[in-house]
Amino acid sequence: MNPASKSHDSSTASDRGVALITGASAGIGSATAHRLADAGYAVVLLGRRGERIDAIASHLRETGGVAKAISGDVTRDEDVIRAVEAASELGPLTTLVANAGIIPIEPLEESELHRWHRTVDTNLSGILRCVHAVLPTMFSRKRGDIVLLSSIAGRQTFPEASVYCATKAAINHFADCLRGDLAKRCADGGGHLRVCVVQPGIVQTELFDSIDHEPTRQATKAYINALDEPLLPEDIAETIAWVLQSPRHVSINDIVVRPTAMTR
Ligand SMILES: NC(=O)c1ccc[n+]([C@@H]2O[C@H](COP(=O)([O-])OP(=O)(O)OC[C@H]3O[C@@H](n4cnc5c(N)ncnc54)[C@H](OP(=O)(O)O)[C@@H]3O)[C@@H](O)[C@H]2O)c1
Repeated sequence: MNPASKSHDSSTASDRGVALITGASAGIGSATAHRLADAGYAVVLLGRRGERIDAIASHLRETGGVAKAISGDVTRDEDVIRAVEAASELGPLTTLVANAGIIPIEPLEESELHRWHRTVDTNLSGILRCVHAVLPTMFSRKRGDIVLLSSIAGRQTFPEASVYCATKAAINHFADCLRGDLAKRCADGGGHLRVCVVQPGIVQTELFDSIDHEPTRQATKAYINALDEPLLPEDIAETIAWVLQSPRHVSINDIVVRPTAMTR
């Protein structure tokens, strides 16, 4: 564990409880699962590629962690509920990292309505499903951390990416409202219910493979490969661990993390 994050940490491994991480089969989600397991959380990994999350969960168990893999899709209510139930079987569900996302961008002229729907259903409705499913447990314990993966695309627009940008902007607004509502309940009844939105710039992951439109995928990958030092998934995982390990009266609301060399 990073010594700096240790000194900032006021909780013990035993009261960290269980973290549910969506989109844990790759990229930021996988790195976060490793980082939180390392910090003493029991982790539940949700993703569609069962073999991948099984392998990650096995590795985490072999290295001393507590981990469970749930093969499922955040666009399906029943899969999300199954993951929350699996988390509750491991212990108190204290933490949600709602990270699953896709970026099927394409030129407007060639846009397919089903891809717009899929983007909204995964990036936005997927997050809403997860938050809705974890709230009852968090209310009853008067404690919970909700970390939502947004993007700098929620703060600024990018060409030919209107639906992706819209989902990320909506996450930011949803989080602002949710945070206020949870704060009111904490003020009235005690407890610590925190919401953090993490907004990365370019991170070197498989995300851009979810672009179906071949020329757009090639152009996007060329742009990313030209970046001198993109962020790594582990950079975002470290940020998330830092947010979670802040003293409970400290709510880190929004974090923007860009590669130093990213110009826009
Ligand atoms: N990479 C970047 O530059 C960047 C920048 C800003 C924000 N972000 C955000 O960070 C988050 C993670 O992206 P990443 O870069 O780590 O991409 P990634 O490597 O492609 O990982 C995305 C994860 O989401 C999962 N996923 C996708 N659709 C899903 C669904 N319907 N149900 C369950 N899981 C699903 C994928 O797993 P399966 O395919 O196995 O389901 C995968 O584990 C996304 O929300 C993305 O928008 C990324």
